[in-house]
Order: sequence, then structure tokens, then C-alpha cells
Amino acid sequence: MPASSLEQIVSLAKRRGFVFPSSAVYGGLGSTWDYGPLGVELKNNVKRAWWRSVVYDRDDMEGLDAAILMNRLVWKYSGHEATFSDPMTDCRSCKARPRADHVFVAQKGRDPVNVGEINAAIEAKELKCPKCGATDLTPARPFNLMFKTTVGPVDTGDDSGLAYLRPETAQGIFVNFGNILDTMRRKLPFGVAQIGKAFRNEITPGNFTFRTREFEQMEIEYFVKPGEDEAAHQAWIDARTQWYVDLGMRRENLRQREQTKDELAHYAKRCVDLEYRFPMGWSELEGIANRTDYDLKAHSRSPENPDAVGELRYFDQEQKKHIVPYVIEPSAGADRATLAFLCDAYDESLVKEPPAEETAKLRELVLSFAKSVDKRDPKQMETPVKERLVAAAEKIAAALPGSLPELLGLADDADANRIEVWKKVRGAAEKLGEEHTRTVLRLNPKLSPITVAVFPLKKNEPRLVETARGIKRDLQRAGLRTVYDDTGAIGKLYRRQDEVGTPFCITVDFQSLDDQTVTVRDRDTMGQERVGITELGAALRAKV
Ligand code: GAP
Repeated sequence: MPASSLEQIVSLAKRRGFVFPSSAVYGGLGSTWDYGPLGVELKNNVKRAWWRSVVYDRDDMEGLDAAILMNRLVWKYSGHEATFSDPMTDCRSCKARPRADHVFVAQKGRDPVNVGEINAAIEAKELKCPKCGATDLTPARPFNLMFKTTVGPVDTGDDSGLAYLRPETAQGIFVNFGNILDTMRRKLPFGVAQIGKAFRNEITPGNFTFRTREFEQMEIEYFVKPGEDEAAHQAWIDARTQWYVDLGMRRENLRQREQTKDELAHYAKRCVDLEYRFPMGWSELEGIANRTDYDLKAHSRSPENPDAVGELRYFDQEQKKHIVPYVIEPSAGADRATLAFLCDAYDESLVKEPPAEETAKLRELVLSFAKSVDKRDPKQMETPVKERLVAAAEKIAAALPGSLPELLGLADDADANRIEVWKKVRGAAEKLGEEHTRTVLRLNPKLSPITVAVFPLKKNEPRLVETARGIKRDLQRAGLRTVYDDTGAIGKLYRRQDEVGTPFCITVDFQSLDDQTVTVRDRDTMGQERVGITELGAALRAKV
């Protein structure tokens, strides 16, 4: 059964060392996350698979790693200083600060023509604060999403040391176009790929790692002759879609969405979003835009840009003249892709029906939790939170034991944990879950944080331990991420590795000492076969 809520993914990610809330020892920092020991492996594998596919497997691509801090003029001429902003309004009554365009769309049922139309509606008291309902909103103001910092030892109080943390990696590629052209002797069409951090002071971050203020992008700028841009754009849309599918993402959870004329950025001729069906609904995974010649022209010396030192252009041997290439930009998020692969791989199922009386006891506990939430004073727990918890608890209670995975997904819910009886619900659910459910991350082996786990049948038998440790060492040297574990019974160790997506588990038993073979167990089929120790490396590498 796939995850029905993002909470199930968040819970697994925290429990098994994929993602932790950042700086949690000081209460955290809203919507910032740290990738734990397994998360960093998964995300690195996603980035490596992307790099391999768009740089190494092609003949028309180069890589780049540009600085995060760049001359402020980059952001002036890219248009970010003037336009990379969201319109915000303040509620004078409750001090909420919602996005004015979101308020307009939610209450008028259509997009506003411009900020002027939003402000006219605010002035006419046609728009209400989404939090308290008051019609006392301030006119919308632009809120720039770029984080500012100061370069140099002294904050002079003026703008002389002002710099920005880059809000996208793309501009680092545009301003290096000439360098790459000169040093790599490229002919059009060719592209440049880059992976790196980007920062945006998002007004409404959320949905776990989906929208954060610090994130990683995997961006390509692909330069083509004008006139060849439309075919190249379509080829990239197809190639990028196929990349997710080749790495195991289910095609039915992936769709291409053509941006409407109103949505298109001012520089874009066409843009197609690749969307994934996350538990919270279809949402953008990657945008693939035709940016025309906008960026290279914007950073070239001209009457509009007297600060640029030269022109970013290409000498076309066929036409014997300089041209400004068009740019196709497949722009993906490493964090979003990682989250999507996690969601897609998640599979939790009831493997054994619990005894009826235990299910009945758990159902009673869940219903008593729902009653406690319902009785809570709205001053202590806001009504929308109460409604969410009561609805979830009643739905889960009605569907037990089948809804046990869903209940386990709620275990870490911060609001549920404010209710005393939740501890009992959680304890009982975890006990039943331990005995009756199986969680498997069906990740493509190329993405799994761990490829092979090796166990000795008995940890107090030195010959088994020594053989198992030797296999671990050899497989790791052969380039397969391998771990050794002897901290539980074999069945429990299999379950732990299933939960983090390890495709292969090896058990060293007494037969291994006689015939130098081990058991290799496959995560997906749960089938086991005996393989000679000396053949393990080749056999497993062939499967990965
Ligand atoms: N250079 C074009 C560009 O930056 P974008 O649509 O703003 O386009 C590209 O961002 C991708 O970066 C998105 O599709 C998403 O995967 C990722 N991304 C953007 N903002 C993000 C955020 N706040 N948190 C996580 N990922 C984000």
C-alpha cells in the first residue's frame, strides 16, 4: 500500500535516519531539514544518477560548479532584484501576512490581472483575511525572496557590500557561457549542467522537504541555434521524463503539465512542468523552459546593460556571423526528486491479521483519542487542527486493522502528541505494527542508500562473524555500499533493511563455513538463493 499521507514518509524518514529537523536541540528552525546517514546516501545517489545521465551519458554536455555568492549585478541584470518577489498583504486585525495573490485567487476564483487589481479589491473590502476573516488588509507589497548578506568584514550600513545567496544556480551557468565556449571548444548545440544549493526566503515553506528556504537544484542550460529551440525543448521534456521512469518512478504518478500563457515567466516561450503525484496532490518536480535568448542578452554589454564587460554570443561558422543562442532549461530540485523517489518507493502492508480482541482494543483507544481532541478548548487547540485529528482518527478507527500503517504514520504528529491518550494509542499501534506489518522501500537499487547488508547467523560465533566481516569489506571495495549488522535475529534484521530499501541481504551460516556459499535474500521477491562467496561481487553488481 503506498503512503496515503506525507506524515508516513516524514515518520519513516525521522525514525530511520533519512531526514531530521534542523537544529532540533534548540527547537529547530522552521522548514529546514538535515539529511541523516541514510538520507545523504539517497540524495547523493539521486544527484549521481542525474549527473551520469545528463553529463557522462551524452556527448553534448559539460559540468560546472559556480560560486553561490556572485556579483550583485548578476541579480540586477537577470531581473531578480526587481521581479523575484511575491505580493504580500498584512491583516491589521490579526497580524497575519498572507500572499495577496493567493487570497485573491481563493476568494475570487480566478487569477488577478495585476497587483493593481488586487489592491483595488482590498480597498473595496472585497478580500478577507484567510485567518480571521477581517476585511482590514493593507495594500499588497512586493516581498523579495532573495536572502541578503554582506561581503567583507564590515557592515558599512549602505549597499556597498551587499550580496545575495543565489536563488537559482542557472545564472552561474549563463555568466560562464563564454568561459566554457572558449575553453572546451564547443559547437552548438551543447549544454552545461550544475548541481548546487539555492536559497529563497519562501513565504510559505512546507510539506516536509518539498518547499524549503535552502535547497539543492540540478539545472541544465542547453544552448541551441535559434530555430532549433523547439525540437530541442521537446527532446529534453521526453528525456527528463524518461529519467524518472528509468529510475523506477511509476509512470502513472508522473505527468507533464503545459504552463498556460498567464503562468509563463516573462522570458519564457514555452514551459512544461513535470509533476509528481505526492501524497498532498500533484506538484511540480521539475520545470523545463525555453528561455529564448533572454539571459545571454541580459548579461551582454548593451545600452540596457553598460556594466557587462562584453557580449555572450557565438560565432556561427555556417552563417559567418555572431548569433545569440537560445536556451532550453530543464531545472530540477534534488530534494524534491529525493522526496518523490521516497514516496514512490514506500510500500506498507499488513502481513498478518492481528487477533480480533487486540484490534478492538486499539479501535477503542483511537476513538477515545478522537473524543479527547473533540473536547479540547479551542483556545488550547485551534479548530482546524481539532477537525483534522478527529476526522483522521475516526477514519482510521473504522478501517482497522487495514489502516494500521496509516495510524503508524501519524505516530510523530506534533498535534496528536499534545493529547495525553495519544501515547497509549501510539504504544499499542507500534506493538501491533511491529508484529503484523511490513514496510518496504522499493527503491531502485541504484538509489538505495545501502546496497548490501551482511549478517552472521550468530554473533557469538567468531568464524561466522569473521567471514561476514570479510564479505562486507570485499563488497565495499568492489564499489557496493555494504554494511555489517549483528544486532538482532535475522528476521528482524531483514525487516530493518526492507524499511530502508536495501535490495540484498546476505546471511553467513554454518553451511558457509563448509562450502563457502551464503544466502542472498532479495528484498522484493523475498526469495533466497545460495551463492558462492567468491562470486558475490560479480553476481550483485550484475543486479545493480
Ligand atoms: N532556474 C529556473 C528555476 O529556478 P524554479 O521552477 O523556480 O526554476 C526549479 O525551480 C526547481 O527547483 C523546481 O522545480 C523545484 O524542484 C526546485 N525548487 C524550487 N524552489 C524550491 C524550494 N523552495 N524548495 C525545494 N525545491 C525547490
